[in-house]
Amino acid sequence: MKTEQTKQHPVQTVPRTLRRYLSLDDFELAARRHLPRPIFGYIAGAAERNTSLDDNQRAYSEYRFVTRVLRDVSGRTQATTLLGKTYRAPFGIAPMGISALSAYRGDIVQAEAAQEAGIPMIMSGSSLIPLEVVARDAPGTWFQAYLPGESEKIQALVERVERAGYDTLVVTVDAAVLANRENNIRTGFSTPLKPGARLAWDGVTRPRWLLGTALKTLVKHGMPHFENSYATRGAPIFSGRVVRDFGAKDHLNWSHIRQIRAQWKGKLVIKGIMAAEDAIVARDHGVDGIIVSNHGGRQLDSTAAPLRVLPRIVDAVGRDIAVMIDGGIRRGTDVLKALALGADFVFVGRPFNYAASVAGKAGVAHAIGILYAEVQRNLGLLGLERIDELSPDVLIKLPGNAIASGGQSQ
Ligand code: FNR
Repeated sequence: MKTEQTKQHPVQTVPRTLRRYLSLDDFELAARRHLPRPIFGYIAGAAERNTSLDDNQRAYSEYRFVTRVLRDVSGRTQATTLLGKTYRAPFGIAPMGISALSAYRGDIVQAEAAQEAGIPMIMSGSSLIPLEVVARDAPGTWFQAYLPGESEKIQALVERVERAGYDTLVVTVDAAVLANRENNIRTGFSTPLKPGARLAWDGVTRPRWLLGTALKTLVKHGMPHFENSYATRGAPIFSGRVVRDFGAKDHLNWSHIRQIRAQWKGKLVIKGIMAAEDAIVARDHGVDGIIVSNHGGRQLDSTAAPLRVLPRIVDAVGRDIAVMIDGGIRRGTDVLKALALGADFVFVGRPFNYAASVAGKAGVAHAIGILYAEVQRNLGLLGLERIDELSPDVLIKLPGNAIASGGQSQ
């Protein structure tokens, strides 16, 4: 072995109770049993028919590797430099709202586990823990904002994020209009959650979540509120009467990004870009990076899978700004496929949320370790030593008829 980086994930440090989780998918099965139905449904679900959700993963299964051999891969490392920082792995944790409802102090456990593993975590603006607390507990965390509808409120929120010490601001732009999440209505999920017999039953049938997350949070921290949508506190998470202020967002436009760019001195990332034309506009507005994303299939159903539009976006702006991607990445092989097609970095959402739910910070650390080990192993099997050796040459795309006849099995 040439370097410390070549070590596999240290299995011996994984607590016994976590050893049954062998892949990121295993956390989903456990979370389904652990979480109340509406909360699991909120995380797992997407919009309308889940067309985009399903295709996000399928897009990865349409590529195959062409491996190289006998190339001494003993010194391999997956360390990756992004926006001026070097991370231990080429992946991070995507922003997910209300993570402190599915796991006790969910945003903090995700952020701390990421920080300790040397990867970035993006704190959601739709979260229940003040952004200042997460910045203090896990410096280096990125912050994601949904833009308030008015310029003064945007300015106040950006000021607050800066004051808290964040250096990377991610602005999510694929939510001009509220999505049609029918699954939430069917399972009884809403924000705020409405107390009642149905919610009580959902909670009582999941006692470990009820005691270890919901009641523990209420006793130790009081009623959680949406803390970070604006510069000021928002609605509580449980209420029969309060209506959450979603405010009109459909008038937002690039002038608001210009405003933020003029104010925000740190790294600025736009999340939710799908068209190469928009990637070019983003670059021309001085952003440092973009995340190619369809929001995990949760906004416009039938939006293309991010992987399918990645190559043309990389062609358009890949030399100028960082191009990141998320959606449907569950394996080290998926990570390597996205990087081979030109992404500089990838983000993974749901599995880390499930890991936090079922096993807290240790669960997130284990999930990170699993993906890290997969990338490390796969690099070697592919015959490569470094992430920047990846190129489209390591891939072939299955022809359409091969996919139709079963090539898509994962
Ligand atoms: C999200 N996502 C999201 N994105 C964002 O910019 N702000 C947010 O608050 C949220 N909230 C959120 C909650 C939950 C429960 C999920 C599952 C997702 C989208 C997220 O950042 C990311 O784009 C997708 O989750 C990536 O897809 P995978 O990895 O979950 O397939």
